[in-house]
Amino acid sequence: MSKKQRYTITAALPYTNGPVHIGHLAGVYIPADIYARYRKAKGDDAVFICGSDEHGVPITIRAKKEGKSPQEIVDKYHALIKKSFEDFGIAFDNYSRTSLPLHHKTASDFFRTLYEKGEFIEKESEQLYDPEAHQFLADRFVKGTCPKCGYEEAYGDQCERCGTSLSPLELINPVSALTGAKPVLRKTKHWYLPLDKHAGWLRKWILEGHRHDWKPNVLGQVKSWLDDGLRPRAVTRDLDWGVPVPVEGAEGKVLYVWFDAPIGYISSTKEWAEKTGKDWEPYWKDPNTKLIHFIGKDNIVFHTIIFPAMLHAHGGYILPDNVPANEFLNLEGDKISTSRNWAVWLHEYLEDFPGQQDVLRYVLTANAPETKDNDFTWKDFQARNNNELVGNLGNFINRVGVLTHKYYDGLVPEPASLSDSDREMLKKISESAKQIADLIEKFRFRDALAEYMNLSRAGNKYLADNEPWKKIKTDPETVRNIMYTANQIVAALGVLGQVFLPFTAEKILQMWHLPTLSWEDVEKGGELLPPGHQIDKPQLLFTKIEDDVIQRQIDKLMKARKSNETASAGNTKPIKPGISFQDFQKNDIRVATVKEAERVPKTDKLMKLSLDTGNGEVTVVSGIAQYFKPEDLIGKQVLWLANLQPRKIRGIRSQGMILMAEDADGKLVLLGPEKSVKPGSSVS
Ligand code: MF3
Ligand code: ZN
Repeated sequence: MSKKQRYTITAALPYTNGPVHIGHLAGVYIPADIYARYRKAKGDDAVFICGSDEHGVPITIRAKKEGKSPQEIVDKYHALIKKSFEDFGIAFDNYSRTSLPLHHKTASDFFRTLYEKGEFIEKESEQLYDPEAHQFLADRFVKGTCPKCGYEEAYGDQCERCGTSLSPLELINPVSALTGAKPVLRKTKHWYLPLDKHAGWLRKWILEGHRHDWKPNVLGQVKSWLDDGLRPRAVTRDLDWGVPVPVEGAEGKVLYVWFDAPIGYISSTKEWAEKTGKDWEPYWKDPNTKLIHFIGKDNIVFHTIIFPAMLHAHGGYILPDNVPANEFLNLEGDKISTSRNWAVWLHEYLEDFPGQQDVLRYVLTANAPETKDNDFTWKDFQARNNNELVGNLGNFINRVGVLTHKYYDGLVPEPASLSDSDREMLKKISESAKQIADLIEKFRFRDALAEYMNLSRAGNKYLADNEPWKKIKTDPETVRNIMYTANQIVAALGVLGQVFLPFTAEKILQMWHLPTLSWEDVEKGGELLPPGHQIDKPQLLFTKIEDDVIQRQIDKLMKARKSNETASAGNTKPIKPGISFQDFQKNDIRVATVKEAERVPKTDKLMKLSLDTGNGEVTVVSGIAQYFKPEDLIGKQVLWLANLQPRKIRGIRSQGMILMAEDADGKLVLLGPEKSVKPGSSVS
């Protein structure tokens, strides 16, 4: 056997501000689990590390929304998430949490080391401050318009539409997510990691050193970050939830969540080592150890640039050997969204499909978003279950079990002299094992699973081609060869299946009373089950999923979509009490053309417009300055209420008003004729 290699395998620590869904499983946890199981099956010394990411602004926001403390929120979701992972067979060696004292100490010490080595820049600067909530607005505490793409709901740390990472000060028209207040600027001191200083070695290490073994999507993001130029990045925040900054003059400040969370991998390894009586250090410090981070694409910069820069600055730590990030999984054509309840939650799936974890594991691996975003649909889920799991894998194993009982009372038969086709089939077993191993080592889990299913398909074809049921009377010797060979395939499917479908593999191992076999035994291609080996009567591994079951899932999603729609429709104002037609006719509404527009000085909202009314120019002061720029208005035709009594606004005489539609979120939209008409045309 090859020499044992040490692996530290991590899966992104999930935020504890909601349950986990199929997107998490497909993007991060299933591939990580397959890889970790594979390394262990190969006999490597692999530790599989994860835990809950319990700090950060989203958790505080969730707590505020639910009227609870952040600790209550993380307790609730930590328990729920941990259980979901266990239920789905994600076999972490340790699942920790970043609110533990062990983690606080580890993160705190890490920061202090960098601080003492002079690896930070200390800087006072102006930051957004909410005068109503009396606090600084870090990250997601502030929303506004994205300077890159114009999306109006961008967060202070990132625009979710174009993916650009932002800082609160870059947002246009920022507002506090806490109170809706307009933030003011206030001075505050923070510590920055000068990433620019690390750009040189990062570029060499990744873009040269790993250009062949890292995934193209990962290399692409790294290159674009490096080409854009790295800048110093603040690693502390003015917040009261997190790891306190362990230096003097930092009262009321905590470590930035993205500084402390990846250190959580180290704390979790320490916790595991304490529990198992091992030494954690070789797993993070021995240059021969391979560190592999499984993450989603939104985490790439943190695991390829920022965390490595932290480890490098600290010294003594290894850097990741690979960061196999996945793209995103969509659901029925739409982006998965917690807030819109557009998701398949793992705990709900288990209620509806008890005992069928492997079906979901199978579908999410077969359709994993490895190289591009992918779509999960319930129809595809049903088809893959019925055609592939029931029709191929389940069917093959059941046939072998049934025939072995029918012909030989459940004993693996003694082969006579094997034919070429038997030998070929036996060779295919070991070739498949090698091929699957090779694909897993390249992080190509979809293809690895497909190759696994190919082995089962080859088994089905072998039976169909050789037709033992026709030969049993006339040619019992040949049938012994066939059934001996078929049982070897089942044994291989049981052993290799442990990495993809652990629950199913366990059933196969039990039904076939499989001795302890390793991956290498299958690769070697010898006999896995000796003649005379007893097997149980087979039970069905998978069952067909009917249309009505799938329809119920689709209906559930449609209900979520509807309730989203009514929630936004719920914002419509009730209709005012009725008026007569004569009442209405008192309004004199005209079309007018905007000739000039300028902001009213010292106000945010007011715009002074000059309108061509077809009967001379008039001045109107309108509260639209937040939504339009003067140059966007000039030349537009608008609806003008001409006979409203003139009033003075900020000392300007305003004559009439222009009509606007108000969107659900309070934004104003200009109204005008569908095509240009003569100014002064009346509206009725
Ligand atoms: N909580 C983050 C997310 O869900 C991932 C943190 S990964 C770690 O996107 F490296 F910081 F731990
Ligand atoms: Zn954007």
